[in-house]
Parts: sequence; C-alpha cells; structure tokens
Amino acid sequence: MSFQEIFGHEPAVVRSAPGRVNLLGEHTDYNGGFVLPTAIPQETTVALSVSEDGLDHIYSADLQERQDLPRDGEPQGFAKYVQGSVRVLADRASIPNLNIYVSSNVPMGAGLSSSAALEVAVIRAVNELLGLGLSGVDIALLAQKAEHQYAGVMCGIMDQMASSVASTREMLLLDTLTLERTLVALPEGYEVLVMDSGAKRRLAESGYNTRRAECEKACEMLGISSLREATLSDVDRLPEPFSKRARHVITENARVQEALSATAARFGQLMNDSHASMRDDYEASHPQVDQLVNLLQQHEDVLGARITGAGWGGCCVALVKAGTAKQVSQDVLSTFNAQGGEGRLVVPE
Ligand code: GLA
Repeated sequence: MSFQEIFGHEPAVVRSAPGRVNLLGEHTDYNGGFVLPTAIPQETTVALSVSEDGLDHIYSADLQERQDLPRDGEPQGFAKYVQGSVRVLADRASIPNLNIYVSSNVPMGAGLSSSAALEVAVIRAVNELLGLGLSGVDIALLAQKAEHQYAGVMCGIMDQMASSVASTREMLLLDTLTLERTLVALPEGYEVLVMDSGAKRRLAESGYNTRRAECEKACEMLGISSLREATLSDVDRLPEPFSKRARHVITENARVQEALSATAARFGQLMNDSHASMRDDYEASHPQVDQLVNLLQQHEDVLGARITGAGWGGCCVALVKAGTAKQVSQDVLSTFNAQGGEGRLVVPE
C-alpha cells in the first residue's frame, strides 16, 4: 500500500539514504581508526507528513506493519529506529507528531547498514520538513545517537557517515577520531561486488558489544584512551583474547593506510589479509562466509575479497575486474549453493 492509501493524503516530503559496504577498516571505527566504505545503490526511503491526532503513525511497506503511538511510547522492532531517530531531534527543535512511511531495498541484517540507512533517511526527511538546516555530519551523529539510545548497539560512526556523505562511485576515507574525510578513487579497472552469504547474523549484537568492551579493556590495561595509540609491541603485553583483538585493530588500521597508495594487486591482498584477521584475531567471521570468501579469492577475476560489516555472518565484498561482477557471482554461486549455501548477488543490482 502507498502513503496515500495508508494516510489518506500525499506526503509532504520524501527523502532517501543508501546502505553501505565497507571495503577495508573493520571494527576500527569505535577504536579511533580509519575506514574505507562506499555507499551501495540500495536505499531506504522515508515519506512524511505532520500528524494532527497526538500520535506518531509509523508504517513499514516491506513488513506491512503499522505502529501508532505517542512520542514517549514503546516502539517495537523497526519502529525503534524510526521513532528513535525522531526523538534525538528533540534537542534541536520541537518536532510535531508525524505520519511516517518507510520502504527499503537495503537487505536487512546482512552487514550493509540497513539500520543506518533508515536512521539517516528519517532524519533527512524531518530536516527537510522542518527546515532544521542540519549538515551531513550532524545527521550522521544524530543517527548514531539514535542507534545507541534506541537500538542498543554501541556502534561507531562509519555506517551513519557512509550513509549520509559517501557516494557509490568512490570510497570514503574517514578518520573516525577527527571525522576528517576524503573521497578516494577505487583501484582503476575494478568494480565492487557484494554477495550475501545467507548466513544469518544471530550473534551480531551481543558479539559486537562484547568486542567493543574487549577493546576498551585492552586500552585500560595499556593505559591509553584508544587503540589508535597502540603499537604491535603493546599487543605482546596483553593476555588473550585482548591481545588478538588489539592486533586486529592495529593491523587493520595499517592496512587502510597502506591501501591508499597501494597498487591494485596489493589492495586486493590487503582485503584478503583483512578477512584472515577478522576470522582469526577478531573471531567475527562465520564458516559459511569463510567458504564464500575462499571461492571468491580463488576466482581469476577477483582482486581480493573479505567479510564486510560487523561480521558473524552476512555479506562479503570483493573487488573484481570491471564488467565481470555478474559472471563472477554466477561462477561462485554455482559451487557455493550446490554445497548447501543460500548465497545471492547484492551489488551490482
Ligand atoms: C557495524 C557498526 C559500525 C562498525 C562495523 C564494523 O556496522 O555499526 O560502526 O563498527 O560494524 O566495522
């Protein structure tokens, strides 16, 4: 059903925001490190109008689910992200009750930041409706606050920044300590391939917060404020699992730095190394994702491949020779799915 069919009138504003895929720099963003995501073509779209009956009305076209509740009500599921993103704006302005219609083709729970896309789209739409004058960075920071306060995931800033300010054509090099950012060209002659392994990320939320706590503990033991300041020799002074976790973060930051001036071949190798580090040191991979990544890495048109996003399942990203992505995906899926996998191509659409 359309906005008009649900609410009986046309929306006052419509705004969208994309999901993202991270090429390199995983689990570095809450450690003051560097990340290198791009936006993906899939987007979440939010349509809005003012509600006059004292309630927010939130409708998801994909879930075909509606929640009607006061601003201080108890939203469930997807509506937590939606109403959370409205509530964080209360510090900036008085926000009227709203009719909110959400639709999306960003895969959910696959490591492509469907939640950041939703938060950024809601805040963009309210920003437009009320003329709040928020910048792209303001929007990202508010979206992160919504995720922390209303979804309970203590995420870093990568996803919301990528959704708010990245493009699909270049990589966004972001220093998460200063929020300094630059757009960087993809290795020439290569394109981004994203595949969903179909392995559900069941442990992602608890695993994520545990890893974050482990990194904080490692800093505490080293007497530093973020792992950005740590060196590999510090790692030897830490007990396990803190030593492995810190090693991943330190080597991952070094890989992003090196990638910026690397040849295409070296860039691919850095992606492969990043996968091994996520699997072995950060222990945030999944056997089925490892299998899909292996198949990709063995393909002659693939420069490099790795798990992407928080991990514990979900998607992998590869750089492949320009124009070969669909063929590579078909080749790899014919083996992966024959062995019981439920993989599928996500990017290119
Ligand atoms: C999730 C979080 C991000 C980031 C990645 C891992 O996507 O939301 O902030 O930490 O995991 O790199």
